Amino acid sequence: MPIIEVKNLSKSYEYYRQESGLMGAVKSFFARETLYAEAVKGINFSIEEGELVGFLGPNGAGKTTTLKMLSGILYPTSGDARVLGFKPTDRKKEYQRQFALVMGQKNQLVADLPAMESFILNKEIYEVSDNDFKKTLNELVDVLDIGNILDIQTRKLSLGQRMKCELAAALIHSPKVLFLDEPTIGLDVVAQKNIRDFLKRYNKEKKTTIILTSHYMEDIKDLCRRVIIINLGKVIYDGAIDELIKKHAPYKLLKITFDENGIRRDQVEKYGEVLEFSSYRAVIKVARGDAKKVAIALLSSPLPVDDILIDEVDIDDVIRKVFGK
Ligand SMILES: Nc1ncnc2c1ncn2[C@@H]1O[C@H](COP(=O)(O)OP(=O)(O)OP(=O)(O)O)[C@@H](O)[C@H]1O
Ligand SMILES: [Mg+2]
Repeated sequence: MPIIEVKNLSKSYEYYRQESGLMGAVKSFFARETLYAEAVKGINFSIEEGELVGFLGPNGAGKTTTLKMLSGILYPTSGDARVLGFKPTDRKKEYQRQFALVMGQKNQLVADLPAMESFILNKEIYEVSDNDFKKTLNELVDVLDIGNILDIQTRKLSLGQRMKCELAAALIHSPKVLFLDEPTIGLDVVAQKNIRDFLKRYNKEKKTTIILTSHYMEDIKDLCRRVIIINLGKVIYDGAIDELIKKHAPYKLLKITFDENGIRRDQVEKYGEVLEFSSYRAVIKVARGDAKKVAIALLSSPLPVDDILIDEVDIDDVIRKVFGK
């Protein structure tokens, strides 16, 4: 049975337009015009135990709204969501104990408390036994390397340090399902990689089912084999990331370096579309099936080739292309 099952899930937000100025405010107070924003429009997917699925889409696509519905924070307008067999909006204690939601945009730790205090708070809320708490905490502190910052007020931590503590706090009760909404947002590349490495390892060891949203393609490429892409509240792709690339990027990149003799642009133009060029380096785009053939042709040509790398096109571009449809 799938761990997460979403059927025809929809959410429209009700909001009010307010006219500008004081008179506008007064007027709107008495006669407000109700407007609806259809954020999620009948989406379907199911996720099996232990999967780490990337949930992608441009700003405003409906990702956060969906994760909030799966966490029981928001009521769907229609449709059905089940996680671990529970209906999230029932807000059953048994469900609360088995999932966690981490939002990179929002502090969940109390700013004036050191992280350790929040961990203890969560231990109490989720009724984690002393033994389990000690064991889980030790593991998390070790893998996330946060031993030396546990006693510092969270508002004094760097963004990366804070995010590590947020993750640890969310995992104190060893949830079976984890919703991560942009956990690496705003972090530098090193901190991003730390979080990624942690998530990869955690998912592998604990078999935790994870849905991850991120606008950083490195995160997605590195962590997810499957992606669900939504745009304007609808699922437009659900499948393997490799298939997505194959389907929407029927070409590969040859990244060629030349020795100190260098070359001219016209010498590589006949091999494919030149995307980047300098005398010592060229990037050319060739049909997926021709990549090897062209590489061999280059190596056996009189050109002073030093090295050739056959690479996938940037997944960022592929996804943008999919959004464009
Ligand atoms: N409280 C709200 N009231 C009215 N409309 C809302 C509310 N929250 C979100 N929306 C609208 O719902 C749509 C989906 O928003 P959502 O936050 O789910 O997008 P997202 O995919 O998470 O985007 P991002 O990548 O920017 O985080 C947007 O058009 C947004 O303006
Ligand atoms: Mg969002």
